[in-house]
Amino acid sequence: MTRLAGINAIITGAASGIGKSTAERFVEQGAKIVVVDRDRAKLERVAAELNVEHIVGDLAQRGSPAAVVEEAVARLGGLDTLVNAAGILVSQPFETIDEDLWEQVFAVNMFGVASMCRAALPALRASSKASIINIASVNALRPSEGTSAYSASKAGVLMLSRSLAEELAPIRVNAVCPGIVDTGMTEGFMSDPEIRTSIAAMNALNTIGKPEDIAGVCAFLASDDARFINGAQITVDGGMTYS
Ligand SMILES: NC(=O)c1ccc[n+]([C@@H]2O[C@H](COP(=O)([O-])OP(=O)(O)OC[C@H]3O[C@@H](n4cnc5c(N)ncnc54)[C@H](O)[C@@H]3O)[C@@H](O)[C@H]2O)c1
Repeated sequence: MTRLAGINAIITGAASGIGKSTAERFVEQGAKIVVVDRDRAKLERVAAELNVEHIVGDLAQRGSPAAVVEEAVARLGGLDTLVNAAGILVSQPFETIDEDLWEQVFAVNMFGVASMCRAALPALRASSKASIINIASVNALRPSEGTSAYSASKAGVLMLSRSLAEELAPIRVNAVCPGIVDTGMTEGFMSDPEIRTSIAAMNALNTIGKPEDIAGVCAFLASDDARFINGAQITVDGGMTYS
């Protein structure tokens, strides 16, 4: 399928998990992409597998998103879609999360996303089919134990997405809220079979998400099929948050 033919895209967090799977799906569907991550070794492997350009960058560092976007747009020759998938999870009791850790979580999950959106604006404004897809989380909707900083950062991404949908139109801005998905972020606790079973039981489908489940939604949101979708929050969680 070539539904993303003619789309130039930047995908962050593409060395692993959801970002990597989204990069694969975009390439399959005919997009031209640049993949971005701070993990050089893994990113180089993904870029080689997919035969796409890559840029190594820590998006939590001030100035890095602007430099990454400038370089990516130069290599792509324009920009239609920005997928912000880079993120970190901190899961520990509130009272043990000090100021440095709050700053780290927000620097990546919230300010990194905002800075990428801002840096991409001039290039997106020049596109007739521009869209931004921000990967938030079900934690933006419903907290879970030990995720105060993470959940607050993801709620920020969700509201940022809605705000930008209003302010930046006709650039479409949407948020995807994944439930629990098998990726590098979750492999620590998901390797325990009992935890896996109880996590699957948290949704009506009794299923754990795969990165591909999120990648397909991102490809749809970038396509013309989603031309009337703006400011949406698409929850992909097997039904975990329906009640
Ligand atoms: N896996 C889940 O269950 C789940 C659920 C809801 C939301 N999410 C969100 O999905 C997104 C992708 O996560 P994932 O599950 O694929 O995790 P992952 O750990 O497999 O991938 C995240 C990638 O982001 C990169 N990254 C982290 N900080 C960065 C930085 N400062 N600069 C550049 N790159 C950076 C990492 O190197 C990694 O390659 C994240 O925003 C995460 O919060 C994941």
